[in-house]
Amino acid sequence: MHESFRIEQERGYYVCRMTQENAWAAFAERITHAGTLPELNELEQAIFSRKSGALTLALKGLTGLPPEKIKEAARDLNEWKQKLATALEERRKALAIPSDAALREQDRLDVTLDLPERERGHLHLIPEFIRQVEEVFGRMGFAIAEGPEVETEENNFNLLNIPEDHPARDAQDTFWIKPTGGERLVLRTQTSPMQIRYMQTHKPPLRVIAPGKVYRKDSDATHSPMFHQFEGLVVGEDITLANMKAVMTTAIRTLVSPDAVFRFRTGFFPFVEPGLEVDMRWQGDDAQSREGKWLEIVGCGMVHPNVLRNCGIDPKKWSGFAFGFGVERMIMIKHQIPDLRAFFQGDLRFLRQF
Ligand code: PHE
Repeated sequence: MHESFRIEQERGYYVCRMTQENAWAAFAERITHAGTLPELNELEQAIFSRKSGALTLALKGLTGLPPEKIKEAARDLNEWKQKLATALEERRKALAIPSDAALREQDRLDVTLDLPERERGHLHLIPEFIRQVEEVFGRMGFAIAEGPEVETEENNFNLLNIPEDHPARDAQDTFWIKPTGGERLVLRTQTSPMQIRYMQTHKPPLRVIAPGKVYRKDSDATHSPMFHQFEGLVVGEDITLANMKAVMTTAIRTLVSPDAVFRFRTGFFPFVEPGLEVDMRWQGDDAQSREGKWLEIVGCGMVHPNVLRNCGIDPKKWSGFAFGFGVERMIMIKHQIPDLRAFFQGDLRFLRQF
């Protein structure tokens, strides 16, 4: 059926019909075996591109044929055009569905595979506890503030009504920062300077807690040179000691234990008047506690009028209370941890329990 005839092409050369047939068949073959979409697109261009596609050129070349051949040749070419277009379409569909082999190569997720459990870290128990503190006080309408650990002597002592020669300074075993001129700096010995910073920048009424690290030259089972406190401060009209006890009782019961046993007793801090301390009853075996049955966990009291005045707040109009909880000590009682140094030794057998 393939009698040989000639097609005159644009460029003026002749290709016999058999050769043409072979060329289209070869294209069809290459389409069926194209391995990737880009390869397929290249083939499509080679055949159908408007300027230089082989089929495009062949169709244009028809005009050069003797009139009696044109019809037959055109019919052949159109048949091939159809076939090749269909082949392209089918191959494109097939390539869109990845083969098993391709899947084995690319898609290595095997949902049936039983892998050893990945180890997941978690927060250290101190920051975790501080988050709970923020949540519990947040529910009581407290804002959260943060301040620097390197603090001025002014904020850490003077403005808190602790004068130069006051024995309370010695009691706090201060780390001093080597002076470089200007203000004298300390590693803050307490979070109480946050009372000053907050009152200097906010107008009452105010309610805030300020958790963070504090430093004292002190080290034994219940003292670490670095430990955590959170300061609380409430200033408003008609704030009383009863409000303070209510807030602190709620905090202790929610954060440590609903049946925590604790006692308020008087205590002295120059920046409160009256001043109180809260001791908590060790919950476990008494023999395990390194400090006896009772651990002091917080100092508190009504903000001293001098401190309010130092921050430009009129003590005749405003009153308030403040407290400073020891975070490690609360956690020690909560989980019956007798030695506070365990928090900082990084022993995973300890840390994993919480
Ligand atoms: N800053 C005191 C301390 O570290 C605790 C305290 C805070 C006492 C606020 C009274 C009011 O010991």
